[in-house]
Amino acid sequence: MLHNTDAHITTWVITLILFIVALFLHNSKNEKGFKIVHMVIRLFYILIIITGGLLFFNNQSLNPALYGVKMLVGLLVIAVMEMLLIRLKKGKGTGLFWVLFIILLLAVFYLGLRLPLGWHPFA
Ligand code: HEM
Repeated sequence: MLHNTDAHITTWVITLILFIVALFLHNSKNEKGFKIVHMVIRLFYILIIITGGLLFFNNQSLNPALYGVKMLVGLLVIAVMEMLLIRLKKGKGTGLFWVLFIILLLAVFYLGLRLPLGWHPFA
């Protein structure tokens, strides 16, 4: 967990799957289901931050700037995901947040894969 990315990958993969489940529940007007899945997603945000944070504090000396940006963009992805779920629930517009979400998600994948641990297809 300190130098191995498996736990971190597991947490964000589950979160993204639950996020898709929440979108389906919202589209099928299952408000109760949506609320429960949203609560579980919030728990997983914490797990992403703990596993990402452990990797960050134990490895950031390898490339402090890039690790810093990775952490920031990772936190922004979580923030935008939460904004999307809240705005969907309230029936507010989500257009701009979807654009931000796609850009930040691509950026966080690029940065994660660029950094030294785990997979590095771009290295
Ligand atoms: C939904 C949000 C996030 C996604 C999709 C994501 C995605 C990724 C990916 C694809 C990797 C590369 C894994 C590998 O190469 O094996 C990674 C690694 C990492 N992530 Fe995240 N991440 C997210 C949030 C965070 C957060 C919030 C933090 C910090 C608190 C963080 C810190 C890290 C660190 C330090 C690494 C290790 C980089 C390395 O040395 O290879 N991530 N993440």
